Amino acid sequence: MSLVITVSRPFLSGVKHNALLSTAYLARTLKTSASAQMVAEVVAPSLTRKPVQKKAPQYKTFAIYRWDPDYPSAKPHLQPYEIDLNACGPMVLDALIKIKNEQDATLTFRRSCREGICGSCAMNIDGVNTLACLCKIDRNASKSKIYPLPHMYIVKDIVPDMTHFYKQYKSIEPYLKKKTEHKEGNRENLQSIADRKKLDGLYECILCACCSTACPSYWWNSDEYLGPAVLMQAYRWMADTRDDFAHERREALQNPFSVYRCHTIMNCTRTCPKGLNPGKAIAQIKKDMALD
Ligand code: SF4
Ligand code: SF4
Ligand code: FES
Repeated sequence: MSLVITVSRPFLSGVKHNALLSTAYLARTLKTSASAQMVAEVVAPSLTRKPVQKKAPQYKTFAIYRWDPDYPSAKPHLQPYEIDLNACGPMVLDALIKIKNEQDATLTFRRSCREGICGSCAMNIDGVNTLACLCKIDRNASKSKIYPLPHMYIVKDIVPDMTHFYKQYKSIEPYLKKKTEHKEGNRENLQSIADRKKLDGLYECILCACCSTACPSYWWNSDEYLGPAVLMQAYRWMADTRDDFAHERREALQNPFSVYRCHTIMNCTRTCPKGLNPGKAIAQIKKDMALD
């Protein structure tokens, strides 16, 4: 009688790398009651693994927005790239990296963390502002269109110029401000658990700008309207009980444009790839401003 046991490599570490082990060793290690007559084979996965069957290629076209500042008079255009999805990772960012590595090194896009933390791979994929690293490739569609975030100036290809967006973010003074003087040795600004909870759903924002660039009001008035991403961060500091300037922060927004250009269309909340609700934060700012 033959007993075939497949074990993992960690189990085999420290064991003489011999596929055939003695029955006694097995009985001792696996606490089996294998009898002396039994011939036991312990076979490492690598010895039993069947050769990987290569899947038939499944091709998909990615039509990607191209514009090169070195040729400013050339019109932007969509450039098609065909890739085999069975030789590519599952996310749109994987497809972009594959295209850049294997087909066209001039294709330009931003990315860093590839896990939805840095916010740099924000772009418009099949009509939706999202993060390429969190967006699964639609394997059922034969073509996908990729554009930069809408209504932004373009640096190159799908890289938008974020200068104005960051300037607006800076304008809300996104840091803790205290009225009392800092006492030496008193380094922490303590907060109750309940107060800390008020920041949930706000602090997770990665400033990808998907929401702001999906907002029609921001498209037309971005010179003065701050947009959902920046306003949600403004509210994040108003809601922080350690900060002493909530009233002044609201005062700074008392004009027809900074916040009141929001018409509660809610495109922002619908598109946020982190599942946040900037529309609600803006509504809260308006409510608090009305009560001030
Ligand atoms: S609220 Fe969402 S979409 Fe807007 S910047 Fe933050 S993470 Fe991006
Ligand atoms: S709710 Fe306000 S910020 Fe959000 S998309 Fe609509 S207008 Fe823009
Ligand atoms: S690469 Fe960082 S969020 Fe996509």
